Amino acid sequence: MKFKKQLFGFMDMLRFTKLVPNRRAALAAGADTPLPETWAVNEQARALHPGRMQVELTEVTPLTPRMAELVFRRVDGDAFPFFRAGQYVSLQGKVGDSVISRPYSIASSPRQALQNRLVLGVENAGFFSQYLTQEAKPGDRFVMTEPSGEFHYETLRDKKHIVGVAGGSGITPLLSMAQSALEGDEPYQMTLFYGARRAEDLAFRKELDALSEKGLKVIYVLSDEERPGYEHGFVSGELLSKYVPVQDVTYFLCGPKAMYEYLAGQMAPWHLPVKAVHKDATCCPSLSMDNPRTFTLTVHIRDKVFTVPAREDETLLTAMERAGIEAPNKCRAGGCGYCHSKWLGGDFQVAEGRDGRREADRKFGFVHPCVTYPLSDMELDVPPAE
Ligand code: FES
Repeated sequence: MKFKKQLFGFMDMLRFTKLVPNRRAALAAGADTPLPETWAVNEQARALHPGRMQVELTEVTPLTPRMAELVFRRVDGDAFPFFRAGQYVSLQGKVGDSVISRPYSIASSPRQALQNRLVLGVENAGFFSQYLTQEAKPGDRFVMTEPSGEFHYETLRDKKHIVGVAGGSGITPLLSMAQSALEGDEPYQMTLFYGARRAEDLAFRKELDALSEKGLKVIYVLSDEERPGYEHGFVSGELLSKYVPVQDVTYFLCGPKAMYEYLAGQMAPWHLPVKAVHKDATCCPSLSMDNPRTFTLTVHIRDKVFTVPAREDETLLTAMERAGIEAPNKCRAGGCGYCHSKWLGGDFQVAEGRDGRREADRKFGFVHPCVTYPLSDMELDVPPAE
């Protein structure tokens, strides 16, 4: 074969001979200062995702006969991270011998978080919530997880006009969403339906009235009382149709299970796509049963082993917390996967409609203790809470 020397090949060879001297010259011209220990992007990521935060309660104010407003400041940093309006935090504290945590939706706006102020609206229901509303006082310290959750606006998925429907303490994430839009941090227009039994049960009235003056449309709906200026009854399909174009909005619902079930029936004739209705998750409750059995739960956390009682009507997470074990958790609803633990033995059942495990997790024996009830003695390998 005849070899023909190409001009470009010749040039490459010429450059190759200069490779080493060129590199040496580039290295010699480089700065001799050490590389920075951290980069702006890493600092930003740490500020947005601090994991667990140390917080202090600064104010407790009654809102309604059943709800109180709790204001927190962060003590291990200058400010709370910016979040998506509608998200929640999990608050953890020690009550007696138990380490308890519960998720609470954030009522204040993301902008207020940057001023080191985060507000929760807590309903006086359940052991930890009762402790928070009745016994906790300013100066008390807690651990709080970074804001999490999928209950927030998504530009590509949701309509520009959103409709919030709140029942009772379900007003909290929707108040944050309304504030965030009016502060210019979200692009939607919002109409808010807020249902309660009586006018005195409506929380955050001062804040909602102030937002109404800035353009938020709020419709108060009272089921047990008739008053001028308020709708009477429940938030029904007919009532929604009276105020909004029902087929051309995205719904964000937050309230009790009964409200979700009632609205599902009311909205059924509209044949809305699944993505048009978002429901905030609620904690997995204890089961209602007579004479529940008590089993033994063996828990491995790194090199420690605990043996604790576990009732069949309570989740494995509740059993661990009752025994003072600090087990990781956030949503307590089966969705976030934060409590994801390795199953080592025993029978169990998962709460109906709450099995948020991936297929691989089911196959390789992982469970979410926040939605899992024991049916026999059980053994788990639980990751440390950090
Ligand atoms: S705490 Fe979220 S899945 Fe268990």
